[in-house]
Amino acid sequence: MAKVEVGLGAIPEGKNVVVKWQGKPVFIRHRTQTEIDEANKVDISTLRDPQADADRVKQPEWLIMLGICTHLGCVPIGEAGDFGGWFCPCHGSHYDISGRIRKGPAPLNLEVPAYEFDGDNLIIG
Ligand code: FES
Repeated sequence: MAKVEVGLGAIPEGKNVVVKWQGKPVFIRHRTQTEIDEANKVDISTLRDPQADADRVKQPEWLIMLGICTHLGCVPIGEAGDFGGWFCPCHGSHYDISGRIRKGPAPLNLEVPAYEFDGDNLIIG
């Protein structure tokens, strides 16, 4: 499987970048400390697809996930929605700053692909 390498040094804190991997959009967010704190303070038992933020990231400041809504596959919009994360305009699913589904029809959190860090580079795949 083809891997994609992304230089993280060019992505400032508080910014989203979208890259293509195997024809799919991959969202990369360089999270701020405020966003990391917000992602961690959520009561997991209240979530539709209960998952701790720490189980969705390898380094808290970098959130990496597939940009494919788990409802019917649209591409959510970043920095949108009621939970400070992503919003899918197709049928109104709201994802939080950890990519977890919070409101709307999507059943699951945005999927985290296989990836690793190599120094300042992210290798997806
Ligand atoms: Fe995203 Fe339906 S495809 S809400």
